[in-house]
Amino acid sequence: MNRFEEVKKRTEWFQKDRFGMFIHWGLYAIPGRGEWVMSAEKIPAEEYEQFFEEFDPVDYDPGEWARMAKEAGMKYVVMTAKHHDGFCLFDTKLTDYKSTNTKARRDLVREFVDAVRAEGLKVGLYYSLIDWHHKDFPKYADINHPMRGNEAYKDEKIDFDNYLKFMHGQIEELVTNYGKIDILWFDYSYEDLRGEKWKATDLIHMVRAHQPDVLIDNRLETSGEGFGSLVTEQPSEFCGDFVSPEQIIPPEGIMNYRGEQVPWELCLTMNNNWGYNPTDHDYKEASLLIHKLVECVSKGGNMILNVGPDARGNINEESRQILHTFGGWLKKNGDSIYDCINAGIPKPEWGRYTRKGNKLYAHIFECAIGPLALTGVPVDAVAKIRRLADSTEVKRGESWITASYQDIPFACLGEIPHFTYPLTDAIDTVLEITLKEEL
Ligand code: GLC
Repeated sequence: MNRFEEVKKRTEWFQKDRFGMFIHWGLYAIPGRGEWVMSAEKIPAEEYEQFFEEFDPVDYDPGEWARMAKEAGMKYVVMTAKHHDGFCLFDTKLTDYKSTNTKARRDLVREFVDAVRAEGLKVGLYYSLIDWHHKDFPKYADINHPMRGNEAYKDEKIDFDNYLKFMHGQIEELVTNYGKIDILWFDYSYEDLRGEKWKATDLIHMVRAHQPDVLIDNRLETSGEGFGSLVTEQPSEFCGDFVSPEQIIPPEGIMNYRGEQVPWELCLTMNNNWGYNPTDHDYKEASLLIHKLVECVSKGGNMILNVGPDARGNINEESRQILHTFGGWLKKNGDSIYDCINAGIPKPEWGRYTRKGNKLYAHIFECAIGPLALTGVPVDAVAKIRRLADSTEVKRGESWITASYQDIPFACLGEIPHFTYPLTDAIDTVLEITLKEEL
């Protein structure tokens, strides 16, 4: 089996599940200015440790988070086990900078994986390759480190191999001590810190020895801007199983060098921060986010939507509202998302298509004037049309006003074709079009 076939097989469940929750949580929830605050404000590790002393998530209830994800229609949940600040949300033996040594005195990852599995969802762990707390991580010449350019670190001697031993050791803890991990979400490679600089081949061999089926992202090679070698003729040992575009939907999906669709997952925030930021009220409308989930699936991809809980362990109301809206829509229309793929039909003006076998889903974002033109669908391919949400019949919309468009099938969304009708679901009204045979 070649690498492409291996990836295709391993990602079968992932490409059916389509929708996940990202959770960025840690000490940075206390300053509340995003997960890069230590770098952005050049906070020395000693000063940042005040938050370690203070961290006390008295309201942490991963069961509630897992139920929220499930009710939102999310099929997998990925949480930060360690972000760039080096704070470990798990009981690692390799550093004292961990949640079991805070006032919480809890292995937050252990409780997280147990709670998510209890809801029947798949679990993923995000692990930062970067560590601004570790003494042997590059500082002065690094472009991101909080102590970058600080003269005090100019001549510092570090033992980067010792850092890699620590990093590989922690990853081995995560893939051996927490049961079956479904996704390992590494973040991220930049400048010369990529690939074998991380000893990525050894790392992947170790991970796969413990967790042969785990999905791994492409960030041992790149980050949110790159595809990595997964799409090339020579994929590396550490190319990962999916591409991870960040805060952007690939305009035409993502193909490999042979034009075959590769697995990809849009990771995005609800507002503009991964970590908790109470001053960032710039939340995207739930309707927009649902349209973007449809867009991802229509282009053969997944979407992982982030929440950033606060320092007490609560997910805020704005985020809950968005999750609730997703759940309501997916409860009625999930068949047009889960296990669906790029329909192979050009995008229609009024919305998007997704497809599952001989079921074609028309996602109507914008009401038509008169009957809806099912552009791109062969006029004699349609067996029947139903509104997905309530299974009501949708009759064909051909009439005297469509006489000039004989090669386009039309759907009538009301009693007579030349009326114009409000959409039954203002966010996205989905028609299930049963085709006489697969396109
Ligand atoms: C970017 C952010 C990082 C976040 C990641 C999620 O790399 O810098 O903080 O964890 O995106 O994809």
